[in-house]
Amino acid sequence: MNRRTRSKMPEWLALKEHAASMKRRHLRDLFAADPERGRRYALQAEGIYLDYSKNPLSDETLKLLFALARACDLEQETRRLFSGEKINQTEGRPVLHWALRDASGCPLPVDGVDVMPLIREVRERMAAAAGRMRSGNWIGHGGRSLRHIVHIGIGGSDLGPRMACSALSFYSQLDLPVHFVSNLDPGHLAATLRFLSPETTLFILASKTFTTQETMANAAGARDWLLEHFQDRAALGRHVVAVTANPQAALAWGIAAENVFEFWDWVGGRYSLPSAVGLPLMMSVGPERFMEMLSGFEAMDNHFRSAPPQANLPLLLALLGVWHADFMGAATHAVLPYSQYLRLFPAFLQQLEMESNGKGVDRDGREVDYATAPVLWGEPGTGGQHAFFQLLHQGTQAVPCDFIGFRRTLDPFRDHHEQLLANLFAQAQALAFGSTREELAHAGVPAEILPYREFPGSRPSNILLAEELTPGVLGKLIALYEHKVFAQGVLWNIFSFDQWGVELGKRIAGRLLPKIKGELPADDEDSSTRALIEYCRKQ
Ligand code: F6P
Repeated sequence: MNRRTRSKMPEWLALKEHAASMKRRHLRDLFAADPERGRRYALQAEGIYLDYSKNPLSDETLKLLFALARACDLEQETRRLFSGEKINQTEGRPVLHWALRDASGCPLPVDGVDVMPLIREVRERMAAAAGRMRSGNWIGHGGRSLRHIVHIGIGGSDLGPRMACSALSFYSQLDLPVHFVSNLDPGHLAATLRFLSPETTLFILASKTFTTQETMANAAGARDWLLEHFQDRAALGRHVVAVTANPQAALAWGIAAENVFEFWDWVGGRYSLPSAVGLPLMMSVGPERFMEMLSGFEAMDNHFRSAPPQANLPLLLALLGVWHADFMGAATHAVLPYSQYLRLFPAFLQQLEMESNGKGVDRDGREVDYATAPVLWGEPGTGGQHAFFQLLHQGTQAVPCDFIGFRRTLDPFRDHHEQLLANLFAQAQALAFGSTREELAHAGVPAEILPYREFPGSRPSNILLAEELTPGVLGKLIALYEHKVFAQGVLWNIFSFDQWGVELGKRIAGRLLPKIKGELPADDEDSSTRALIEYCRKQ
């Protein structure tokens, strides 16, 4: 289909023109003009409160953004996602991660086969495995109960479960720690195994393709470690399980059939936490809490599908992101969870947003002439305040921020929590309103340092608040960003569910390996690579 280039659409052009006038309006003035702004530009749904009032926007901005969403057929594209159409066109696949948390009981045929019973069956096997591990009834080859889980995977087969295990660590079973190994650097595996015993360790090998270099190398390291200790291949049957969409490869690797947990090619890696990729999480927090998380996902799925645009959380986040990236000139986007449990959430979102929407060609094969996904980054508050917030407040670029916080803490030291909330709200307020030279002079700041003490303000932020960090809330938050990413893909007219940009480097690494090992000459490489290889060989 030949869709109109986004930047030529009248709705896009109208936003461009409107942005020119909005850039001149300070958030201080927008708030002064409307005492109800903080309530008017806020939305509460599915237990999440979104305050987007501290973005430079007006009713007109929202009207134009919703018009853009309509003109991009977002509603119809959303129907296509949830009907199982093959919208991952460049890989010829439907996009069905939402089915993993669909408890409606409706069948979902993929190529003539209802996949819902398959999803349920794998989940029941996961729950049985989790039960065995949690109760101490998973007995290793040496007769001892397995008490450590080492999850080996990378990208989507690592970031989701790693982030969720950290986010829900409050609910974890304390005598069943989960460790994550992803990096090809041997230090990652070695440093993890240093404190473990093969007698009590279960490995989960998670790889959709079961061919990824890092995961296969770490899996081989784990196998050697086990075999060196047990001197018996049968040990693998008790100490290694696989999570994969390529079960044949897992079987060929030596994993017992009953230890292979399948997921499917219609689950994108970065969307795979609710699949068997979530096994270490289920083992850590238990099947019930895992199911609570899935219910949270499902609640947000249903909200995204059915809420009207003005009340639709993912759509609003998507439109605000497009507003900043394409019309207000923001090149990056910061996600700042005021929760130590969510410290890995920005890293998880980096893959979700940048691998999905870091594309430069539209769905009609044309190079785009507008910005797509901004660079996403972030750290938890309050640590970041003492590191990079300086740039957020006084640097030369405005960075839109998502602050994420919780009304209640799960932990004791409640007084800390109130201080934490005070800091969160303070940062957003300081970004929005800044501090003028007049105010500072009035407060007695000497004239010669006034320029350095001034805060320009009008720096945009969203604040997302929820009651407390439960498994259900985590599911909602993840699904919120997943659907934001989907909506932005439609608004930018790009394919969000492939990731061809990761392939070239992988191919070149394969070609360079024998040259680094000295098995092949490096003469045909460029002069920089050749010199680097020579340097390493000399060492
Ligand atoms: O290299 C990128 C990527 O393909 C991701 O999209 C994926 O999540 C990751 O590698 C891991 O792939 P696999 O699960 O097949 O090992």
